[in-house]
Amino acid sequence: MNPMPSVDSGGPAGMMAADLLGCIEASDDAGFDRIYPPAIRGLSAAHWSPVAIARRAARFLAREPGTRVLDIGCGPGKFCMVGALTTAGLFTGIERRAHLREIGRKRIAGAGIANAEIQEGNVDDVDFTRFDAFYIFNPFAENVGEAPAIDTTVPLSAGLYATYTGIVAAGLAAAPPGTRVVTFWGACEEVPPGYACVGRSENGELKFWEKRGD
Ligand SMILES: C[S@@+](CC[C@H](N)C(=O)[O-])C[C@H]1O[C@@H](n2cnc3c(N)ncnc32)[C@H](O)[C@@H]1O
Repeated sequence: MNPMPSVDSGGPAGMMAADLLGCIEASDDAGFDRIYPPAIRGLSAAHWSPVAIARRAARFLAREPGTRVLDIGCGPGKFCMVGALTTAGLFTGIERRAHLREIGRKRIAGAGIANAEIQEGNVDDVDFTRFDAFYIFNPFAENVGEAPAIDTTVPLSAGLYATYTGIVAAGLAAAPPGTRVVTFWGACEEVPPGYACVGRSENGELKFWEKRGD
C-alpha cells in the first residue's frame, strides 16, 4: 500500500459545477471522479459514495433549504459536492486525513460550489449541535479490518474504533427529535437507541434514520 496515494497533481482543468451536475444526472461515477487525481480516483469504488447513493441520501437529509448536513468522514468531499449541487442544504465534511481535506477543499472551490465546505480536524472536534442531519459511510471500519485501509497515514486500532463510534453515538443521542441520519454500509453502531430506521435500500446497506420524539 502506498503510504500517501494522493499527491495532488490535479483533476482535469475547468471541471465546474455544471460538468459535475451532468455526471450526477447520468449516475456517471467515472465521469464525476475525473475531478480527482488518479490515485484518489482509484479509491473511489471502495471508499467514496456513488453519486446515486449520495444524491438519495442528501435528498432525505436536506429536507428544507439551509438544512445543515455533516458528512462524518468526508474523504475528498464527494458526498458534500453531490449534496450541495442537488439540494439547497448546507454541506460540511469532517475528515481526519489532511491530504484528503486539502484535495476536497480545492475541488469544492475550483468547481465554484458555495454550499459545501470541509472543516478542519477529526470527529472528536465536531460540535454536533451545529448540524441538523448526518451522513455516515462506514468511516471507522478500517480500524477493525472491516474495510480496507485507505492508506498508512493515520493510526488504526480497535480502541480508536470504539472511541470514534462512541463520540458519534453520544452526539446523535443528544440531538433533538426529528434529527435525520443516513448510514451506508457498516454495523451502524454509531446510531444510538432512539433512532428509528424509516427506510432502507441497496439490500439494506443504505439506511434512513430519524430520531423519535422523547
Ligand atoms: C468510507 S470513507 C467515506 C467518504 C465520504 N463520506 C463519502 O461518502 O464519499 C470514510 C472516511 O472517513 C474518514 N475518517 C475515518 N476516521 C475518521 C475520524 N475519526 N474523523 C474524521 N474522519 C475520519 C476516512 O479518512 C475516510 O476518508
